[in-house]
Amino acid sequence: MSIPTDMHLAGLSSAESLLVAAGRDRRPGSPLNRPPVLASNFVLGTERAYARNDGTPTWEALEEIVGVLEAGESVAFASGMAGVAAVFDQLKAGSRIVLPDDCYQGVAGLAEAGRQKGLWSVSRLAADDTDGWIKAAADSDLLWLESPTNPLLVVADLRAICSASRKSSALLAVDNTFATSLNQRPLDLGADVSFQSATKFVGGHSDLLAGLVTVRRHARRARVVPRGARCAHPGAQARARPGQCHDPRGTSEFAPGCRVHALSRPAYSPDALDRTRPVEGLRHHNLI
Ligand SMILES: Cc1ncc(COP(=O)(O)O)c(C=O)c1O
Repeated sequence: MSIPTDMHLAGLSSAESLLVAAGRDRRPGSPLNRPPVLASNFVLGTERAYARNDGTPTWEALEEIVGVLEAGESVAFASGMAGVAAVFDQLKAGSRIVLPDDCYQGVAGLAEAGRQKGLWSVSRLAADDTDGWIKAAADSDLLWLESPTNPLLVVADLRAICSASRKSSALLAVDNTFATSLNQRPLDLGADVSFQSATKFVGGHSDLLAGLVTVRRHARRARVVPRGARCAHPGAQARARPGQCHDPRGTSEFAPGCRVHALSRPAYSPDALDRTRPVEGLRHHNLI
């Protein structure tokens, strides 16, 4: 059973308040923090039977926190790369992918490995080549943007690119790891997917790996989180097939850390988003 939390979030507008309030079970007597639910199987009779398919309350706390901030519905994965792979896994054979020429090397490596196997073709464009991205949107199947990019911190004009017309079956995904949803919300700008490696700013403590893939609520075209016939969580299938689930013990420690990441925003965002002085902000957070 999924625990309703939305109602108590109504009226909260600041990111700091949402971070504190989201992902909690508000029923009287419930623990304030969602405890780790160490279960692979659940007693039959509800929509939750098996953790890999149907999720666990522990993962859902983290998903609700990030989902509220991204203004969408999040799914937690075992690492950032597991989340990225789930998005790429949606592509049909022969798809056309566009990546920034500067982008996280793990993502570039995943794309290149698929290209070498003949799964898809890959083109690279400078993240700030707005006209190039808008042109590519017309005939690409996956536009994978990163803004700011890792490692050179090139900033893309997300507003222009996300609002450009694209193939109806295309996915436009934004790697929001460096900006985080405190600084930009790609779904609000028109992206289909917002991704964060929570190993970085959102986790912020260099102790846990996780990835969050977020799509707009009830988005039909965002195939990355198809709603399964029997699945409690809409992201279940994309995570269940490769079995890229997070350890509930880790996730339960993640949520409290995630709640305070707004406190570090003044330390990182001015530097990280200021292209004249980007490096100091990232060094401060051990990102480079
Ligand atoms: C921008 C970006 N995207 C994706 C990833 C992959 O995330 P993870 O290391 O959690 O698998 C990273 C990791 O550094 C990253 O910096």
